[in-house]
Parts: sequence; structure tokens; C-alpha cells
Amino acid sequence: MLGAKDFGIDLGTNYIRIYMPGSAIITEPNIVLYHSGTQAIAAIGSRAEKLLSLDSEKYMQLFIKENGVLDYTTAKDTLAFIVRHYQPLSFLLHPDLLMAIPHGSSVIERKAIRDLCIQAGFNEKGLYFIDELLAAAIGAGQPVLDPVGSMVINIGGGNTQAGVFSLGGLVCSGSLHKGGRALSRQIMEYVRKQYGIMIDISTAERAKMRIGSLLPQDMEIDQVTLNGRNMQTGMPDAAVVTTEEMREAINPVVTEIVDCIYQVLEQTPPDLASDLIENGVLATGGAVQMHGLIELIEERTHLKINLAKHTSDAVIRGVQKVMQDPSAWNGVYSDLLQ
Ligand SMILES: Nc1ncnc2c1ncn2[C@@H]1O[C@H](COP(=O)(O)OP(=O)(O)OP(=O)(O)O)[C@@H](O)[C@H]1O
Ligand SMILES: [Mg+2]
Repeated sequence: MLGAKDFGIDLGTNYIRIYMPGSAIITEPNIVLYHSGTQAIAAIGSRAEKLLSLDSEKYMQLFIKENGVLDYTTAKDTLAFIVRHYQPLSFLLHPDLLMAIPHGSSVIERKAIRDLCIQAGFNEKGLYFIDELLAAAIGAGQPVLDPVGSMVINIGGGNTQAGVFSLGGLVCSGSLHKGGRALSRQIMEYVRKQYGIMIDISTAERAKMRIGSLLPQDMEIDQVTLNGRNMQTGMPDAAVVTTEEMREAINPVVTEIVDCIYQVLEQTPPDLASDLIENGVLATGGAVQMHGLIELIEERTHLKINLAKHTSDAVIRGVQKVMQDPSAWNGVYSDLLQ
């Protein structure tokens, strides 16, 4: 029977999520550290975060995904690290893998991902892929196999994806290599231009979550102090930035995200569109929690947007469901896995 027995993995821009049957889902911050000297991988996840804070000179941080695009070498090293360090049965040399892959990946990209998984040590014959958006839909409980139209959106750290499913197939979809991290980059860029201060991405992310809002005048606290480095003097410095300023800074990217979703609706056949009007759209991915984003999408699309119960974990939960009961997902499974 089809099915990966050992590992389910979602390599996200912000988080690495791992499912192994019999264990709870593991969520690690997507931090991959190499030894500066030997260039060998030193640690991933929260342990890497800790090492970096103790001795940043000794290590070099690389990213699996930048602007939503996979870096193949870093991804391969990370997967090899997972094979060596996360397997409860470490004698299993070549474990099976069900991996969520970016929505809209081309055949060539899929082939490259397959090759890197094999090089990382996974079992060539037990290697399966599932489209991230489909996994998010399954994980969030959308009735993708039913003869109705159901729409899911997934806005993560580096990607926005939207699609309409019916009878286990994808009817239409769209994607953009921008998500929550692009919003934080807009804030960094704004502070650099407006105040001449460089802040790092995690400072921008924290500020965005704390006082960021796309709706006017609805935050109790509406300004925040951002610590960084003055670009002229090189000295530590800080800028006080308001919710209003942040909204202006991130608005162009928000518009791109909302447009991407709208364009999928434009392609939706009328009979399925009526199902969406009736049942609404399910929103997954961490960045859908951005204050006011759901309201903006509703305003633009005139559809009810329902937040999934486990927004951030939807993809890996979908992977988990498929691994737990592969025969139930046979229809979509054979289509999307190769
Ligand atoms: N409360 C919040 N307000 C605003 N943004 C949030 C909030 N919580 C999480 N986010 C954003 O969600 C993003 C992470 O989402 P998620 O965990 O779905 O990403 P990912 O799966 O790692 O990335 P991707 O699938 O795009 O490669 C980050 O950009 C983070 O800033
Ligand atoms: Mg994701």
C-alpha cells in the first residue's frame, strides 16, 4: 500500500514541522547553523537558536527558504540532520518520508526535491510528496473529496497560496512568494529609510505582532520602540514607530496578497463559486492572524473567511492525517505523490 511510515515533514520559512507516527508534532524555529570553520551543520531549531545566542562568532546561519524559495543545499543538510538526530529507531538507515512541497512547484523543482531527499538519506522507494495547499486543506478539515467547491488560503512566512478544491482535485489556484516575513521586511525597510536605523527581522516580526494592524484606530497600544543600529554613527539607537506608520509600510504587500486570493476567485467556475458563497473560505498559515487581514480579504472578496482551528499547523496536520490513514486519501494521494 502507498504511504510513508516514518517521517512527515513541512519545511516552512519560519518553522520546520515534523510528524513521526506515535509522537506529537514537533515544531522547531527554522534556524539552521553551520560551524564557521568546518562548514558542517551544527544544529537546527531551538538548539541552534540557543547556540547562536551563546557564541555567534563560531557559527553561521543559513536559511532553508528565503522569500518563499527553497535553498536546496541547506534543505538537504537539514533533512540529513533530521534523519540522523530525530529518528527514534536510529537503526533505520533509510526512513520513508511524506514531504509537503510548495504549491505550484514545477516538475523540475519536484525532481530536485526528490533528489535532495534521497541524498539526505531517505528511502527512494518510500518517498512521497503532497502539495502544501492540499495538505493545509486536509489538515484544516476542508471537505476536499466532496462534490462541492471548497476554498483554502494559506499565508505563511514566505508564501501565499490559495486554491479551490472539488472531488479531490484542484480546480484553480494561485500563489505568491510573499507572506508574513515580507510584511516584516517592509517594516525594516521603512525604519531604515525614515529613521536611518537598521533593525533586525525578529524585531520587526515582534513589533508587527504586537501593534501591527490593517484596520485604522483599533489597537490599545499604538506605538512601539524599535531598537537597532544608527546607520550613520554605527551606535545603538531606537525609533518609535506607530501602528499607522506600520500600516502604511506594509500596505503594498498586503495588497499583493489580497489580489492573489481575489484572482483565484475570478477563475472559479460559477457553480463552485456558489458553494464558496454558502460555506465561506478557510484561512490557514500563521500570517492570517495579522490583525485586520481577514477583514480586508472579506471586504475585497465579499466572502466569509473562517479562521482554521490550528492555523499555523494546518499543513503538518494534513500530512499527519494522510500518514495515519493513507487509504482514505487514495484519490488525492496517488494524484499528487510521485
Ligand atoms: N499574531 C500574528 N500576527 C501577525 N503575524 C503573525 C502572527 N502569528 C504569526 N504570524 C506570522 O506568520 C508567519 C509564519 O507563519 P507559518 O508558521 O504558517 O509559516 P511557515 O509555514 O514557516 O512558512 P511558509 O509556509 O510560508 O514557508 C510569520 O511571518 C509570522 O510573523
Ligand atoms: Mg507553511
